Order: sequence, then structure tokens, then C-alpha cells
Amino acid sequence: MQKMQVLENIWYCAAHSAEVSDKPLARIICGMPMVFYRGESGTPAALEDRCPHRQAPLSMGNVIGEDLQCDYHGFIYNNKGSCVHIPRQDAISANNKIQAFTTVERWGFIWVWWGNQEKADPSTIPDLPWTEEDGRRVEYFYWRVKANHQLMADNLLDVSHVDFLHKNSIASKIDPTAKESEAPKVTIETNVDGNTVHSLRIVHKTLLAGITAAWHGSEGPINRISTGKWEAPNSCILKLQFEDMDGTINETINLDHIMTPETDGSCHYFLDWTWDFGGPDGYPNNEDVHEEQCGIIEGDDIPIVEAQQDTLELFGKVQDIPVKQDKFVIEVHRVLQRMYEEQGLGLPPEVDRMAAAE
Ligand code: FES
Ligand SMILES: [Fe+2]
Repeated sequence: MQKMQVLENIWYCAAHSAEVSDKPLARIICGMPMVFYRGESGTPAALEDRCPHRQAPLSMGNVIGEDLQCDYHGFIYNNKGSCVHIPRQDAISANNKIQAFTTVERWGFIWVWWGNQEKADPSTIPDLPWTEEDGRRVEYFYWRVKANHQLMADNLLDVSHVDFLHKNSIASKIDPTAKESEAPKVTIETNVDGNTVHSLRIVHKTLLAGITAAWHGSEGPINRISTGKWEAPNSCILKLQFEDMDGTINETINLDHIMTPETDGSCHYFLDWTWDFGGPDGYPNNEDVHEEQCGIIEGDDIPIVEAQQDTLELFGKVQDIPVKQDKFVIEVHRVLQRMYEEQGLGLPPEVDRMAAAE
């Protein structure tokens, strides 16, 4: 197996809680085929997805108690990856084992530790308490994207695409050809705190249209406030608020977009979308949010990011030209560059392309 150049000793989001059950789930994380399952205690487990006997995928097997039985010749592995049973044979050699990965279930997600398993530290899992807050609703999403995880994460760090790519859904009402002096004023602040990057972007006195006007119940004008927090490896923890001109905020949406590498050219995209208005009987309820977000992300974001991946494969090494609006992406890439260097890893092209442009 080709080892991917990804940050180590860190949690990667691997699945939604609801995806992991007593039916094994096969998923490639950071280039490693893993099998996820829940033993009878309900505790999730993650193992290398191969049986060392003759290399059948364990994800085709069955859960027995806390263990997993290979479907081919019935060998059983415990959740530490050790073989504990061979049919019609008592002796089990010590090297009949596979790698086990530490997992933690939190905020509706299963997180897996990639790196030195002794160092797994649950306190470093991103904090997403609004997913469990009273008075808020939450909807979870998963997509497999045929693009590098960084390209997909950069899409979320770059709020400036919203008025263009999403002109038929969540954009503000703007003239797409307006010059800087004619468009609503935008203020952007970013600050870096260790390996975390914070961003605040306010579009002042702007008008809403389409879905955003429906959420707010009017076109405004409003101040559109986007707060962002990025944590390595690629959790984009975003908050969107609409502030009326008298300072009232009636809508707060938390959107946690979390990217996990599958291979160099594909990733897993997890999202929880939580909100404090509408549903269950008002608008938007969970079905509305599900339909709207699938329409936006499957209809706009994923196609353009997959097309970027295709372009990069066709053109090879090219350089980005960042602009003022890209401040959040630029700061995140600076932190990534430092983290890759600290871990003695080469810069992946998706980070190098912008680093080289600065
Ligand atoms: S390949 Fe799994 S038991 Fe033989
Ligand atoms: Fe988008």
C-alpha cells in the first residue's frame, strides 16, 4: 500500500455514528482500507480491512460479540486486531494480527486516530457542542468526492464563491459585475492561534435572495456575518448569521464541514448543519434542509471541485493567484505548510500551489 503524505497523530473523521453498526463498514481513510463496526457493547472499532490468513476483506465478515469473523475460513479477530480463533486449530501465531486504530464517537461522528496509537488524545477532537444543544435541529450529510481533500476544504474556507457559484440558491442579491466601490462593503478579519485559524467576514447591508431570503423571511437588508474556525487536518467549523439593521440576530446556522482524505484524488466529505429557527412544523425542517443542502453541494460545489481536480491533473504543476478575499484560505495554507514541515513531510501539491504563489 502506498503511504499517503498526510498529517499524523491527529483525528480524522471516518463516519457518521449512524453508519457504524453490527454490519461492517468498509472505508479507506488516508489511503488505508479500514473496516468499522460496533461490537455488542455498542463501542465502535476500526481495523485494517484484510484478513492476514489469505487477505479477504474483513468488511465482508460478521460481528460476533466485540470481535469480527472473516467470512472466508472463519478466523476471528478482536477489536485490538489479534486473531483469537482459528477453526479446528488451537495454536495461533503471535503475528496473526492486523493493525487496530483508536476510535472515539463524539458529536454524531466516529473519529479515528491516524499515527502513533499510543498518543491518541480525545481532548483534541474538534468541539461541536451545538450538535447536541436543546432548541436546535441537526441534519447530517456524507458525500464521497473525487477530488483531493484540500481542494474540497478550500471551497468551504472561501465564502467569496457563494455569490457566484450559488447564485441560484444561497447567494446575496448582488450585481455580479459590480466593482469594489459599488458592491456592499465587505470586512474580513483572520487570526491564527497555534494550529487553529479564525475568520470573520461581514457583508454589510446586503440583500438576500432565494433560499437565504426564505430562511430570513425577507430580503433584508441585513449584515451577513460568516464566522469561521479551521482546525487541522481539515475541519471547517462555520457559522452564518443574518443581522437586521437594528442589531437583532434571529437566525444562526452552524455548518461543520469536515474533510478526510480517502486517496490523493478523493475524499470523504462530512457535514452537520444545525439551526435554531423553523422546523419541525415551520420552515426549514429537516427534510427542507436535506433537500436544499444536497441541491447546493451536489449541484454546485462538488462538480466544480471535481472539475478543478481534473484541471490540475491535465495541467500538472501550476500556481494559484490568491486575492484579498482569499485571506482565510491563505492563512490556513500557511499553518498547513508549517505543520507538514514540522512532521518532516513534503508539501502536498494542493498546499504547495498556494504557498509558492505568495
Ligand atoms: S482469508 Fe480470512 S479466514 Fe481465510
Ligand atoms: Fe459552496
